[in-house]
Amino acid sequence: MQTNAQANVADSPIESEALKDNQFRVAAVPPGSALLVGDAAVFNVAGGFCATQAKCTHRGGPLSEGKLDGSTVTCPWHGSQYNVCTGAVLRGPATERVKTYRVIVEGEIGRVEKD
Ligand code: FES
Repeated sequence: MQTNAQANVADSPIESEALKDNQFRVAAVPPGSALLVGDAAVFNVAGGFCATQAKCTHRGGPLSEGKLDGSTVTCPWHGSQYNVCTGAVLRGPATERVKTYRVIVEGEIGRVEKD
């Protein structure tokens, strides 16, 4: 298992305890929930993961604290809705889509891939 920057500690028995900024425990994000991971919001959409930028494009509301219904998140501040897997705006006042990121799951650990 390559762990990029921390490859030199890959054989450490406590390696699985140390999460990087872009990593999360799969068990911490059950279906229908969301988690702030670094500057991304990770969503569990029926067992699969999608991730967006953490902040709403309207005024920066925290999307990981919004209500998730299927793949639709509602910003807790003014109610904008986005598809968390495509980033599309489904309801305003936001007009600009959110960035989306790939989520890779390896065992119990997921990670958000930027770029
Ligand atoms: S900050 Fe999200 S709708 Fe206004």
